[in-house]
Amino acid sequence: VDTGLRRYDEIMNASPTRRRLIGGVAGFAASASLPLPVFAETEPIVEPSWGAHQGGIATPQQRHTYTAAFDLIAIERNELAAMLRAWTTQAAKISGGDIADLSPTRLTLTFGFGAGLFEKDGADRYGLKSGRPAALVDLPVFNGDELDEARTGGDISVQACADDPQVAFDAVRQLARLAQGAASLRWAQAGFLPATGSGQMPRNLMGFKDGSRNLSGDDAAAMEQFVWVGGEGPEWMRGGSYVVLRRIRIALERWDRMPRDFQEHTFGREKSSGAPLGAEGELDPPDLKAMADEGDPVIPDSAHIRIAAPESNDGARILRRGYSYNDGMTFVRDRWPPWREGPRYDAGLFFVCYQRDPRTGFIPIFDRLSKFDMLNQFVTHTGGGLFACPGGAAKGEYIGQRLFEAG
Ligand code: HEM
Repeated sequence: VDTGLRRYDEIMNASPTRRRLIGGVAGFAASASLPLPVFAETEPIVEPSWGAHQGGIATPQQRHTYTAAFDLIAIERNELAAMLRAWTTQAAKISGGDIADLSPTRLTLTFGFGAGLFEKDGADRYGLKSGRPAALVDLPVFNGDELDEARTGGDISVQACADDPQVAFDAVRQLARLAQGAASLRWAQAGFLPATGSGQMPRNLMGFKDGSRNLSGDDAAAMEQFVWVGGEGPEWMRGGSYVVLRRIRIALERWDRMPRDFQEHTFGREKSSGAPLGAEGELDPPDLKAMADEGDPVIPDSAHIRIAAPESNDGARILRRGYSYNDGMTFVRDRWPPWREGPRYDAGLFFVCYQRDPRTGFIPIFDRLSKFDMLNQFVTHTGGGLFACPGGAAKGEYIGQRLFEAG
């Protein structure tokens, strides 16, 4: 008797998925004696799929992502529309719980359109060229960029987020299967957040709390102002947003050798509490004007939080929704003397940010960071892209439908 297999079967049959779906937010019964994952009782396990906005933007961040970019190979616009219709239906189905016997664990799928959907190598492949929004610019080349072509760009992005990494991966696999003949995978990136106590800010791989001064998806007014596209955009983009993805490798070997006070100066925050230098609590606003007795600013001129702050960027704000990534090792030539080379951690931050317009969001903020941020000596941007994420679909509609019907 293959007890291993039967045990797996029993686990699946005893899966709390169905009960949870029917019972809404009910926790699962104590009868489960097998080591099933336990989720917080109050956490809704199914995120909505239809509405004014796509899921996965204002949604409280899930623990895992699997984000992928596809190249379009469809010849006809109809094939592309059919794929998006199939994707939208499937996305609703699996985030609603129908996913290979896995619990959906708050799965959301967020779709974005890259420049190549509108125009590729000068060709108006799908007759959509005139529909390209002005805000969907070609990202400029930034200082220090080492973008790898094989990890950059793509015509369509899919960001799957879930509390279970296998659920997120499985979702993208299902979409890739449905895309056969219309789109092929170009690159993908998995990412994770550490487990935290409730209400605790997760720490990134550099050991610092990340997200303390972020926009909150619950802050409707700030979301309207900084994240959701409004009347300035084309109809199909209203209630949508622009996502910038950046795969950022961090020289963790080098960072780990830096003394704590140097690390704190790099960010402009205390490592353990997360408080801005000179302040008490993590959520206190940074005092960018404060001077120390020696006449130096308390938060250094090149500290990450000073240069990224809205106060330094004409009030610009973005919604950060990134994940750590850990892809083993890669061969790297150091950027500092004595310029050693060898295997290094291929780990860092899969930076994800949403904004109403990248020309007033990521681009000016990162232009300044890429030139002056003290963090630059530790980080290398190796891939990513910019995608226009349409507004949410009403039931029966598919994502981006109004673009396809407009032009
Ligand atoms: C490996 C790369 C990066 C790491 C480790 C990192 C880490 C951090 C940390 C620890 C904070 C302070 C806590 C917080 O407010 O969340 C922060 C703030 C911030 N970072 Fe980064 N970051 C990175 C790259 C970037 C990039 C590429 C941007 C591009 C725009 C960016 C934009 C911001 C912004 C806007 C803030 C908030 C500033 C404020 O509102 O005061 N970061 N980051």
